[in-house]
Amino acid sequence: MRSHTCGELNSNHIGESVELYGWVNRRRDHGGVIFIDLRDREGLTQIVFDPDHKSTFTIGETVRPEYVLKVTGAVRMRPEGTLNENLSTGDIEVLVSSAEILNSSETPPFPLDDATDVNEEIRLRYRYLDLRRNEMQDNMRLRREASRFLRNRLDSLGFYDIETPFLTKTTPEGARDYIVPSRVHEHFFYALPQSPQLYKQLLMMSGMDRYYQIVRCFRDEDLRADRQPEFTQLDIETSFLDEEQIMEINESMIRDLFKTVLDVDLPDPFPRMSYAEAMQRYGSDAPDLRIDLEFVDLDDVMANVEFKVFSGPAKEQDGRVVAMRVPGGNSMTRKEIDELTAYAGKFGAKGLAYIKVNDASAGVNGLQSPILKFIPDDVVQVILDRTDAQTDDLIFFGAGKTKIVNDSMSAVRLKVGTDQGLLNDTWKPLWVVDFPMFDWDEREKRWNALHHPFTAPQESVEALQADPGAALSRAYDMVLNGTEIGGGSVRIHRSDVQQAVFGLLGIEEQEARDKFGFLLDALKYGCPPHGGIAFGLDRLVMLMAGASSIREVIAFPKTQSASCPMVDAPASVSSDQLKELGIQLRKKRVE
Ligand code: AMO
Ligand code: AMP
Repeated sequence: MRSHTCGELNSNHIGESVELYGWVNRRRDHGGVIFIDLRDREGLTQIVFDPDHKSTFTIGETVRPEYVLKVTGAVRMRPEGTLNENLSTGDIEVLVSSAEILNSSETPPFPLDDATDVNEEIRLRYRYLDLRRNEMQDNMRLRREASRFLRNRLDSLGFYDIETPFLTKTTPEGARDYIVPSRVHEHFFYALPQSPQLYKQLLMMSGMDRYYQIVRCFRDEDLRADRQPEFTQLDIETSFLDEEQIMEINESMIRDLFKTVLDVDLPDPFPRMSYAEAMQRYGSDAPDLRIDLEFVDLDDVMANVEFKVFSGPAKEQDGRVVAMRVPGGNSMTRKEIDELTAYAGKFGAKGLAYIKVNDASAGVNGLQSPILKFIPDDVVQVILDRTDAQTDDLIFFGAGKTKIVNDSMSAVRLKVGTDQGLLNDTWKPLWVVDFPMFDWDEREKRWNALHHPFTAPQESVEALQADPGAALSRAYDMVLNGTEIGGGSVRIHRSDVQQAVFGLLGIEEQEARDKFGFLLDALKYGCPPHGGIAFGLDRLVMLMAGASSIREVIAFPKTQSASCPMVDAPASVSSDQLKELGIQLRKKRVE
């Protein structure tokens, strides 16, 4: 049995005889003496093969990277000048007295010491090797520490860890479902849960009082760096607490998580911002507050200018004109501005007007811009005043449909902020509150739930029905450095309110019964007031690890096209399997 791990030995062990197991990380031949860094999950230990020990030396000569070894030997001090301060075991080495090759290895498809420039597809194909890399081992350790902390905390607060089904019925969280055919019930399908939302509410109705689960959720949606088709939520629900109390429990949990695991002090309390304010100032409901750039509204002054690009949207109900000052942005080159304009275009913007401030003291004369000729001087002066423009600044403008301006200018804000070095290296959590209950789907001509249809309104049913667009919900999102890490709400606990909300969402009575009859029934039997939240565990750990994608903190993630190159999923199934399921395939869609 091994006496120690490869990360454990130090000068206190000098003279001891030890037995280590691990992989050959690196092998160096130093004029007859062979040094090997033996690696396991806990670290590296330098082991030394001396030519005087003939039989073991031959083994030292034979091994290659990723061979698996068992060695015994004596711990000794490294010779002066060869100590390695960067390694916990850097003071010592083990002089091998016997060694056994437990397994050989082919040459890995990429070096395991530093694979940063290795194609991700290759890394995912050989994920079991990729996971041997230091960085990935660190990420898995961090994830484990975070989950352990969160579990312990919720456990100590009396939350029960309860599992909920994967084979279930559609759960509305706004994405497409993954569906699973039933063999026993021919032509019927299960849906994999987009979240355990309804089950956790039913657990509250079951008197379980407080529930949590670290649980996989499945959503068939377009993937991005912070989205996976299956991802993990820390899902939480509690009875008898209001939004203030739920937010308080969760905010302290996250603050303590950062303190315990990363020794980072998050602000106490987290700042709060209404959805309306976040959209107005940043064009996003998950603003990255590490960047100081803000939108300045100009609808009032632009409504009557001759420049149609601005006056049109300024006058429209669903239009918007904003300016955003970039301190020091005057140094941006034409090429950089053109690239940024193209970037804004990806979000639907028709252009990205700008004014360069060469000399703020010279007023309008100190400016340079292709749009100055279209805008009267007094309006330009208002822009300078409102944005507080200074010499060497640059002011960008977005004009158009509100949604497009918000999407494109918030993207420009992030990109310019990052590229121009305006991103503060700190942690900026934020609660976003006072979300609208509904947003209007122009194409379908109906209201959609902004959070989900089970979220309680702040107002009465009457107020809700009188003006659905103005109604606010009891929902809250936790945002960290511009990423939504969690979202939740107080739920509807009365069946009349639930029915009214279904009604406003255009879910007819029969459809509501078909889809959510069990919920409507359960609400009739003494449902306690309840609410909760779900954190995206992958996103949280990604931020804690400083990783650029959630794939870096998931052991076996999918690619951007929702596939797994290692096991080759998804894959076709045999015709027998299909037959058994009563499924016949249609011709492939032509792309
Ligand atoms: P929501 O849909 O906001 O709420 O999800 C909660 C959190 O889960 C994370 N998340 C994702 N992470 C990775 N990949 C994805 N595709 C993905 N989608 C969401 C986000 C998000 O904040 N049932 C409600 C919660 C509740 O009301 O209690 C829900 O699922 O970090
Ligand atoms: P144009 O008159 O279309 O050549 O546009 C003049 C300037 O306004 C250019 O700098 C464009 O990038 C910019 N522009 C055009 N449309 C918009 C828009 N919708 N929002 C912001 N700037 C725009």
